[in-house]
Amino acid sequence: MPRHYAIVPAAGSGARFGAEMPKQYLPLAGKPLIYHTLSALCRCERIDRVWVVLSPDDVWWRTHDWAPLGSKLETLFCGGETRAESVINGLAVAETAVAADDWVLVHDAARPCLSQVMLAALCDALADDPVGGLLAVPVADTLKRADAAQRAVATEPRDGLWQAQTPQMFRYGLLLQALTGHRGVTDEAGAIEAAGLKPRLVRGDTSNLKVTYPADLCLAELILQGKKR
Ligand code: CTP
Ligand code: MG
Repeated sequence: MPRHYAIVPAAGSGARFGAEMPKQYLPLAGKPLIYHTLSALCRCERIDRVWVVLSPDDVWWRTHDWAPLGSKLETLFCGGETRAESVINGLAVAETAVAADDWVLVHDAARPCLSQVMLAALCDALADDPVGGLLAVPVADTLKRADAAQRAVATEPRDGLWQAQTPQMFRYGLLLQALTGHRGVTDEAGAIEAAGLKPRLVRGDTSNLKVTYPADLCLAELILQGKKR
């Protein structure tokens, strides 16, 4: 049986958020944001190990206690210039532990509200899939095309459009090959598509949001509070 591993890219600076520290370390429901992200993955019984990929210049990680997350967690200070580079660097270190047909789940540090239900749904849906796939949600809003003056010039059809989330789950060998061959992509599925394959879209929900702007952090707080109740 193939095993499941997780890689968490966490080497970004959070420029759009604009805080005085990278957004993954901002306080959220009493813990650093990334604690919730890692906790969701470490708690999942089918995941054997979780590698978190930090910036080589990270000064924040050591200021917190991660011991409660247990022994599955391994810290790598090998983040790169882009998210894709951070993931590739993490995959390279993981090579000694992972077989080519093992599953790797890549999950953004900035998505702290991942539920066990969605994680299980992703693993179940892809268990026998030849390609792999990702959590995603169908686009709900009407889409506008803007001109240079930020005026709407057209309404775009949203049929067949989905918003990609993470985790994105692919076989180790295929993922490493696709990412190293297509470095300009913004997510793993993009690299797999560029390699000519079609990742499966597994329907998730909008609670698995990515914290990008300050308002997202307030929403994440509400979602996590709601889960506790
Ligand atoms: N990431 C990474 N290495 C990079 C850039 C991003 O590991 N060089 C990680 C981030 O830490 C985050 C995830 O990729 O967990 C998704 O990226 P994003 O939300 O864009 O985070 P940032 O790049 O930190 O934010 P921004 O783009 O606003 O600077
Ligand atoms: Mg970014």
